[in-house]
Amino acid sequence: MHIEVAREGGVATIRFHRPEKKNAINAAMYEALVTALEEGEGARDVRVHMIAGLPGIFSAGNDIADFLAYAEDGALGTPVLRFLRTLAQLDKPLVAVVDGPAIGIGTTLLLHCDLVYASPAARFETPFLDLGLVPEAASSLLMPARMGYARAFEMLCLGASFDAERAREVGLVNEVVPSEEIESYARQVALKLASRPPEALAAARRLMRGSREAVLARIDEEAALFAARLKSPEAREAFAAFLEKRPPAFAKLNGA
Ligand code: COA
Repeated sequence: MHIEVAREGGVATIRFHRPEKKNAINAAMYEALVTALEEGEGARDVRVHMIAGLPGIFSAGNDIADFLAYAEDGALGTPVLRFLRTLAQLDKPLVAVVDGPAIGIGTTLLLHCDLVYASPAARFETPFLDLGLVPEAASSLLMPARMGYARAFEMLCLGASFDAERAREVGLVNEVVPSEEIESYARQVALKLASRPPEALAAARRLMRGSREAVLARIDEEAALFAARLKSPEAREAFAAFLEKRPPAFAKLNGA
């Protein structure tokens, strides 16, 4: 299974485990993520969700082969949307451990986390524009709110890559921790969070995260545009180029 779940001391750790594809997330993995988060939300003994990748890779983002399949269907897949909507409706806090590249949804999902720890190996990139797509996961709303419009534009539209230190400076990451210690460090913090009074914690978190309805509405608005872009010749060329390991030939599309 490409998603592993382990519970210990009130912390449910959800781990991407698809090293051969750099933890790219496919439909079955989105389904498993939703199940893991829903089970954690419903379990009395789970107080905190923790999401992690593997040493050297957090996630390469959405599986690009699946993007091609979604393009045929004409919609962002249901499992992706269910995952995004589940993320936006969590009551329990979410802690992330990033020890390598976090690409696309690997970065945008972090905007739904409450604490993010990164190692110096981390790298944050959202290459939506390069793929002919638009931002998702309500990142067009949450990223400017988190780091300010100018920095968010740099990341979402210019495709800038932020290293761990820059991500900490802009407020995407809480602390940069060496790879060897990052997971145990984050676990200690998560355990501390798990010992807080859960109802008060959920209420405080809900107040701090602002309007859930606004986030859900933005997820849907982005998804409609995303679905339209998936079908575009630009996006199809970008996906094919990635899978064929060649540079995209956008100029050809305009008859140049
Ligand atoms: N979807 C599908 N397959 C992916 C993938 C993705 N998002 N990211 C990586 N893979 C696959 C590669 O095709 C390759 O498969 P193969 O061994 O069968 O050829 C394998 O994972 C290893 O990837 P590779 O690119 O060789 O690893 P790397 O260490 O050189 O680079 C990344 C790692 C994550 C930087 C790079 O794979 C990457 O940029 N991936 C695409 C990220 C992306 O654009 N995601 C979509 C965001 S919206």
